[in-house]
Amino acid sequence: MTSGTAEEHIAFERVDMRFGELTALSEVSFSVRRGEIAVIIGGSGAGKTTLLRVIIGLLRPTGGSVKIEGEDIARMSERELQRIRAKFGMVFQYSALLDSLTVLENVALPLKEHEKLSANALRERCVRMLESLELTGVEERYPNELSGGMRKRVALARALIRHPSIVVYDEPASGLDPLTARLVDDLILSTRDRFGVTSVVISHDMAQAMRLADHLLVLDKGRLVEDGAPRELRDRAGGLAAKFFAASQA
Ligand SMILES: Nc1ncnc2c1ncn2[C@@H]1O[C@H](COP(=O)(O)OP(=O)(O)OP(=O)(O)O)[C@@H](O)[C@H]1O
Ligand SMILES: [Mg+2]
Repeated sequence: MTSGTAEEHIAFERVDMRFGELTALSEVSFSVRRGEIAVIIGGSGAGKTTLLRVIIGLLRPTGGSVKIEGEDIARMSERELQRIRAKFGMVFQYSALLDSLTVLENVALPLKEHEKLSANALRERCVRMLESLELTGVEERYPNELSGGMRKRVALARALIRHPSIVVYDEPASGLDPLTARLVDDLILSTRDRFGVTSVVISHDMAQAMRLADHLLVLDKGRLVEDGAPRELRDRAGGLAAKFFAASQA
């Protein structure tokens, strides 16, 4: 039997990630409960993207355990990992859509790779997902013909198309104006509400973290220095979250 409860959707235990001499993550332990939005904040180079890549099994940690629904993915074979990866959707920094493909082709990509569907079924599923994100009539357009906010929604459609139970977002507001960034926040919240997904969001903006987080994690130089309720950490005098918050208000 693997340990960890169903409540703990993601559980890190003393995770280390070294790249040669460089330690990107050091003894990081935390857990994320099913259905919650966990926001990870930290300065540039703190290890946020690395942490996200470890969560979704793109990077194998050099130490510790990473449990997804109680299963330790840190020690899994590549083949077992393939099965686990289907549980994840990822929205990359700057959307990372393929410019040479249409919106529809971009969204269909994960389905084409992993599921055998007729061209019609594929199209229908993608169109329905795009519609649910208020993107109608843009299937045949190319990403560079869309606004930044629309591109984010297409990226989200692609991340959700295989019905993942965990969605991770790497700095979803980057490159967007403040109003569009708010819309993306709303999208993250409604995605949680409608699809019941567990979300991990990377941010360096404490104001955004306060809008989204059920649970806040603060990384500093590869170490997890704070872990708790957003308001509590914001109000903890001298803490890093409090400093980030003060900076976001300035
Ligand atoms: N594949 C890699 N090989 C070597 N070093 C890496 C690799 N990936 C990340 N690093 C290093 O690990 C550290 C953490 O990087 P990471 O990208 O996780 O930071 P971050 O918190 O996401 O920063 P930012 O806010 O700038 O995106 C950095 O020093 C980075 O250079
Ligand atoms: Mg990063």
